[in-house]
Amino acid sequence: MKIASYSAYGGPETIAITDAPIPRPAAGEVLIRVRAAPVTAGDARMRSGKVPRGLGLMLRLAIGLRRPRVAPGWAFAGEVAALGQGVTTFTPGQRVFGLTGFKGGSHREFLVIKAAGPLLPLPETLTFEEGAAFFFGGLTAAEFLIDRAGLAPGERLLVAGATGSVGGAAVQIGRHLGAHVSATASPANHALARKLGADEVTDYRNGSPPGPFDVIVDVMGALGWQGARPLLAPKGRLVLITADLAQMLGSALRPNRDGRRVLTGTNKDDLPSMRRLLALHQAGGYTPALGPILPFADIAKAHAIAESFHKPGNLVVVMTA
Ligand SMILES: NC(=O)c1ccc[n+]([C@@H]2O[C@H](COP(=O)([O-])OP(=O)(O)OC[C@H]3O[C@@H](n4cnc5c(N)ncnc54)[C@H](OP(=O)(O)O)[C@@H]3O)[C@@H](O)[C@H]2O)c1
Repeated sequence: MKIASYSAYGGPETIAITDAPIPRPAAGEVLIRVRAAPVTAGDARMRSGKVPRGLGLMLRLAIGLRRPRVAPGWAFAGEVAALGQGVTTFTPGQRVFGLTGFKGGSHREFLVIKAAGPLLPLPETLTFEEGAAFFFGGLTAAEFLIDRAGLAPGERLLVAGATGSVGGAAVQIGRHLGAHVSATASPANHALARKLGADEVTDYRNGSPPGPFDVIVDVMGALGWQGARPLLAPKGRLVLITADLAQMLGSALRPNRDGRRVLTGTNKDDLPSMRRLLALHQAGGYTPALGPILPFADIAKAHAIAESFHKPGNLVVVMTA
């Protein structure tokens, strides 16, 4: 089978496709034939080592000092190719989707995963490409909007950077939760933002809409506390999806400011969170928007697009073997 691997921290050219034997599932494991996998902002950050200011050392301590020692690829959609001993919860040929998570390993034609791990049947309402794209922005948006910011029906939500993985999910889920959704995006993406459910869209390069907003999701951290503070209603919550070390420490030490709250951090990627997102999909509240779809052989090109932080929707590579 073909697998992608990183040889060093660096540009997209440091990712290579090589041959490897197809793994065999051990007891309790499932062999998956991967059909599609997302190439995310997270994949690009792990490959390049470029993370918000102050977090570089933490990244390298976690995944490798000199080169990323994790395998590329965080999520996948595909079919069950074989079952390890004792697995009764999946059947050969079944369509599934799931997460390889922080340790990675989905950018390959086959992978093994624990049957009791982050693996779910892929519903008929999602294609392999949508299944691959499903979790990255969706889990983040759902956790920050529902659990952390407590977005309530009728509240005013601003999604700053509304059409990528996280922003696109935040617009849809915010709308589904009954919020009035304002969005910012570059002009080429205004139609997409409206299609995802934004009530109004403006170009972030012309400044922010005036507000006030009850919740602001600042996808790229472009507003920060200083930029968002004048736009926040009393009791407003600012979600910094992208935050540097100082902002993370600041929100941990001083989350409450002038009756408003600043939220940062990472989201969970466990089975209950995955099931909750699936329930949102089944209730009509979330289907990931697809952007570029590339063959697996073009994975370096996919990384180059992912690290632009301007892709519309989600970027997916498809395996054709
Ligand atoms: N905290 C967490 O747990 C978590 C989880 C997932 C991702 N992230 C981080 O969240 C960020 C976004 O990830 P993603 O996958 O959603 O990326 P993405 O798909 O590349 O989307 C980026 C979005 O940001 C917009 N944007 C770019 N520059 C902007 C600016 N100066 N002002 C306002 N909007 C701007 C883009 O809009 P246009 O294309 O219209 O320019 C696009 O909608 C990344 O930094 C990623 O590392 C954090």
